[in-house]
Amino acid sequence: ATIDWEIIGAEIGDHAHYLIKEIDEQPRAIERALRGRLNERFATAHLGGLNLSTREAREFRGVRILGCGSACYAGDLGAQLIEDLARMPAASESASEFRYRNPVVEPDMLYVAVSQSGETADTLAAVQELQRKGGRVIGIVNVVGSTIARQVDGGIYLHAGPEMSVAATKSFTSTVSAFALLALHLGRIRDLSPTEGRRILDGLAALPGQIAEILEAERRTGAVVAVAGEIVQRRSVLFIGRRRGYPVAREGAQKLKEISYIHAEAYASAELKHGPLALVSPDLPTVAVVPDDDLLDKNTSTLAEIRARRGPVIALAHRELPTDLADHTIVVPKNEPELDSILMSVPLQLLAYHAAVALGRDVDRPRNLAKSVTVE
Ligand code: G6P
Repeated sequence: ATIDWEIIGAEIGDHAHYLIKEIDEQPRAIERALRGRLNERFATAHLGGLNLSTREAREFRGVRILGCGSACYAGDLGAQLIEDLARMPAASESASEFRYRNPVVEPDMLYVAVSQSGETADTLAAVQELQRKGGRVIGIVNVVGSTIARQVDGGIYLHAGPEMSVAATKSFTSTVSAFALLALHLGRIRDLSPTEGRRILDGLAALPGQIAEILEAERRTGAVVAVAGEIVQRRSVLFIGRRRGYPVAREGAQKLKEISYIHAEAYASAELKHGPLALVSPDLPTVAVVPDDDLLDKNTSTLAEIRARRGPVIALAHRELPTDLADHTIVVPKNEPELDSILMSVPLQLLAYHAAVALGRDVDRPRNLAKSVTVE
């Protein structure tokens, strides 16, 4: 393999906005997050910065993940990856809530702080509280030498290059990729077989090419631009997904509201009948994450319930869905089920971007928001 020493810089070049530049950079950003970390020989991940011996890593009973905003949603996907691959109990919660509780800090728990900037005040406060109570905290951070990076006991740098736009894009997909490496590492010192480890390694290695494929397909077809044109006519959009599709839906809704200012809400698909189904009508479009996996039947029956109430549906799927289930399908290439969420989030970034552009928003500097919130 050739080594790409190219640095991802902070210059906008001929891109209209930093946001689209950073969306476009994702194949390279993920390549950099993976570089030197895929250990083919032992079918595991090599993570030099964790500062954990195999014995220590083997003794953790579970993983707790903390972060704010998109970092927290990436943590939700991270928790599922750890549960799936390492069979350890894992959960993610917002660092801002964590610090206001009186959390029970357990000595046999691995705590993971997630922060692109490494400067978010709430995440830093959570790390300090954990450490005060003897918790072992590692970081997943992009900015080298940032406050959180220096505070934690070890961790994984994303190496995604500077992220200038307020909305997280490449840091989100890079963080989930880093979690896949961590889950693989924790899995392989437990019960994950070499064959399974290799399946995940191959999936990871395929990600950059598949993201490039998604971006290239969009340049060719403009499918997401067309959907964005319809979304901007609406006052509100519902995002739904099951299992790994749910954090993807949450991140998709977050992107849309922060940069286009269109109201968006994310629900776990099975929760639809416990409330939001009352809102479904021809005026409320639903963006649904529908991967071709063992939950496909469940997901398509949810779509049928929405269609029965004449709700417009935009589906993200691995192949075109019949038009009685979805008005539009955005087709996304298939990877391993554990990693599909990374690919599914890319068209949702594009959707938010094109909606924001169509509405003339200040894409890189949305009103009332800051790139990193260093005050309370
Ligand atoms: C701000 C940004 C979000 C980001 C969050 C956490 O709210 O607008 O895009 O996800 O902070 O930032 P961090 O740097 O800690 O990942």
